[in-house]
Amino acid sequence: MTATSGAACGKVILLGEHAVVYGVPAIAAGITRGALAEAEPAPDGRASLVLGGSEHGFEGAGDELAQAFAALCAELPGAPPARVRAESALPPGGGLGSSAALGVAIARAVGALAGGAPSDRVLAAAGAWERVFHGNPSGIDTTAAALGGCFRYTRADGAAPLEMRSDLWLCVGLTGVASSTKAMVASVAHLFERKPEIKDSTLQGITALVQNAALAISAGDIVGLGRLMDLNQMLLAGLFVSTEDLERLCDLARQRGALGAKLTGKGGGGAAIALLDAHSDAEAGGAGAPIIEAWRAAGYDGFITPIRSARALHAG
Ligand code: MEV
Repeated sequence: MTATSGAACGKVILLGEHAVVYGVPAIAAGITRGALAEAEPAPDGRASLVLGGSEHGFEGAGDELAQAFAALCAELPGAPPARVRAESALPPGGGLGSSAALGVAIARAVGALAGGAPSDRVLAAAGAWERVFHGNPSGIDTTAAALGGCFRYTRADGAAPLEMRSDLWLCVGLTGVASSTKAMVASVAHLFERKPEIKDSTLQGITALVQNAALAISAGDIVGLGRLMDLNQMLLAGLFVSTEDLERLCDLARQRGALGAKLTGKGGGGAAIALLDAHSDAEAGGAGAPIIEAWRAAGYDGFITPIRSARALHAG
């Protein structure tokens, strides 16, 4: 049997991380940078996984990795034991969904050995993989990795693609500091246990921001969306998941013309996103360059990425 392959997107959360764990809606999108996997039936019948490249793009190691791979394969019962090689182009522990992208890419490649796994099986397999590393993931990362495009997400109802008036463009800034999703989610849970009043007000606030952001996206109101992202960042800082690096990335981006900026994903390091005042790929280059330049001067790497509507993606 010939080798099969699978690919998956990285992700950014535009609004609603952490709150989404508690059932609140969030808005996320897939980005082109992601992960790739290749699989072939294991000649000796023993499944194995090699994470290639210099970066493993991966929060777990050793036993956890073997456990996660076994949990993933158990959700794909029709597939033969597979020898898998996978690689992520995303920074490990960097808030851009590296482990979820690997999980989805591997599930797709292994599933393809049995003729192709349906999307709900791929999500179940990648979810089992993620639970080994992250404990109680909301599923938003694996959904973005599998789906791409821009969508609203809740734990209860999953993803609903968002109507977009036009594409959005972001600068993604990397703190270079890896953090653990499990630890960051646990620290928010601890805060909420100690201070239930913070839990209620924060979840209510983020629910309202996400609802307004969905309206802003469908109306093409990027100025409004940027303001909502700034407000979400304030609420995230109140949960102690922002850091000096993340605040600096956001401040520099706003000073250089970003419409709004916030951390994306778990925080505690990882990445920040800045919404560009742009309506085309060409405009995004012009609007993003001063931000990337300011970040580089301050010692941070970054890149520009479009956020396309799900419809645009499926149209090719
Ligand atoms: C991590 O990318 C997003 C969090 O909301 C955790 C989760 O939803 O599983 C922090």
